[in-house]
Amino acid sequence: MKKWGTLVIALLMVTSLLAACGQNKNNGSSSQGAGSNAGNSGKKVITLGTSADFAPYEFHIKNDQGQDEIVGFDIEIAKEIAKDMGAELQIKDLQFDSLMNELNSGRIDFAISGLSPTPERQKEVDMSKIYFTTEQAIVTRTGEEGNYKTMDTLVGKKIGVQKGSIQEDIAKTIKDAKITALAKTQDIMMQLKTGRVDAAIIEGPVAKAYISNIEGLTISEAQPAVEDDGYIVAVKKGNTEFLDKVNTTLTRLMEDGSIDKFIQAASDLAVK
Ligand code: ARG
Repeated sequence: MKKWGTLVIALLMVTSLLAACGQNKNNGSSSQGAGSNAGNSGKKVITLGTSADFAPYEFHIKNDQGQDEIVGFDIEIAKEIAKDMGAELQIKDLQFDSLMNELNSGRIDFAISGLSPTPERQKEVDMSKIYFTTEQAIVTRTGEEGNYKTMDTLVGKKIGVQKGSIQEDIAKTIKDAKITALAKTQDIMMQLKTGRVDAAIIEGPVAKAYISNIEGLTISEAQPAVEDDGYIVAVKKGNTEFLDKVNTTLTRLMEDGSIDKFIQAASDLAVK
């Protein structure tokens, strides 16, 4: 009798462990890396790398089941890419400045993370066509926006940016700027809110999502000029087979208006 009890408990433990593994497939905490052949569905697994601190592009929400989920229009694009490949999508939430390395070491198959096509990145990875373009924004504290009407007004100021981003490069072009480069964008906004930086440089749509969720922050009139306009999907250098498929999916999504719909839906979700 006692023996049976132990066996039943052991079986229960194994089953709940398996269930837990199954749940992990969508938020990237599973240990399965890029290039593994089959996932829980028996399908091939493709692994996306992203820095999910960038609403409406990629961000965390609590879904209807109360579980943490990574959503956003970049994620919708990744799902479509996986669907067209007949693959299962695994998502890894990584630090933004580690994405190129993760690609080149083969730990992820592709990166979609509001990635701008800079010449430096072009040397490191291969890039898809541009799937969306937008403008940059300067976020300040409400009431101080009048002080930042042009980029010149940022000279000598304390500026918050994401580490390894094009915004860090923009900040470096501002004379005497004291730059705080942080790994996650929410930390930049906290630094701004608490007065440790004067302004933050970030993508317009992300700025809009933040100012509607954090009281006391707003967007100023200053407008950074950017050369590396638009966003691309990145793959490891030489992975043309994967890249061709990515481009085919992007063309479909751009032509049938899906990308616009994804952006609208993600933007609505981001300001809730
Ligand atoms: N577009 C900028 C860049 O490529 C910032 C992207 C940041 N993305 C993110 N998911 N945090 O450098």
